[in-house]
Amino acid sequence: MRTWGPTTMLEIRGLRVRFGSFDALSGVSLDVRHGEIVVLLGANGAGKSTLFRAISGLHPAVGGAIRLEGEDITSWTAHRLVAAGIAHAPEGKHLFPEASVTKNLRLGAYVQRKAPDVVRQTMDEVFELFPALRDKEHDAAGTLSGGQQQMLAIGRALMARPRLLLLDEPSLGLAPLVVEEVFESILRINQGGTSVLLAEQNAHAALKVAHRGYVMEEGRVVLEGDQDDLMGNEEVRRAYIGV
Ligand SMILES: Nc1ncnc2c1ncn2[C@@H]1O[C@H](COP(=O)(O)OP(=O)(O)OP(=O)(O)O)[C@@H](O)[C@H]1O
Ligand SMILES: [Mg+2]
Repeated sequence: MRTWGPTTMLEIRGLRVRFGSFDALSGVSLDVRHGEIVVLLGANGAGKSTLFRAISGLHPAVGGAIRLEGEDITSWTAHRLVAAGIAHAPEGKHLFPEASVTKNLRLGAYVQRKAPDVVRQTMDEVFELFPALRDKEHDAAGTLSGGQQQMLAIGRALMARPRLLLLDEPSLGLAPLVVEEVFESILRINQGGTSVLLAEQNAHAALKVAHRGYVMEEGRVVLEGDQDDLMGNEEVRRAYIGV
């Protein structure tokens, strides 16, 4: 059995989430260690977003446990989880399209609202990471390109100064060059010390940056391995890389 220790950031054991009589997650276990980028692969409906929403306190668990650095956070509220260092850039971005770029970013800084200096400094860091956002800081989010909106969604999550960043399908609907840009920014975020759990259907792009990964099917983890294991796995290549 795998053990966990001080190097484990997030530990999930036997996590179960139900919608009515449907088991959306039926006993998911995975780890994210400090400093890692971990990718979660899986087809439509596998349960990736459900897992992210459960980690973020948006779906209650009916079984199992989630621990952050050894502390049981399974039943914590979404707000408390953000304050503890977990931020989530959800699938589909969920920006406020009428609000400006800076307003959207400020909404991500809710937990820092009593420290305006920290908010300003963090926004500067986000603009350094995504210079295109600085150029458009007063524009409505809805007028940005798809890639810029994704950067804004990631930037908004970073405004909470997370230790663990959950990114749900950041490459969805983006052109290949923009996907590359987004993944480069994920690498830079990680190099700055933030652990990342990433759900992706673009396995090729994700496995280039991820240290390790898990494959989910129908609410279960069916495969796990490091970057090379998954890259070289026949099933992964056939199902998610298409070669
Ligand atoms: N709020 C909900 N109520 C009922 N069923 C739900 C709810 N959210 C998700 N589901 C179901 O749970 C299963 C897992 O969905 P989920 O969105 O987690 O998959 P996913 O792996 O993120 O898929 P995708 O790649 O399409 O984003 C699906 O069968 C989905 O229909
Ligand atoms: Mg999803």
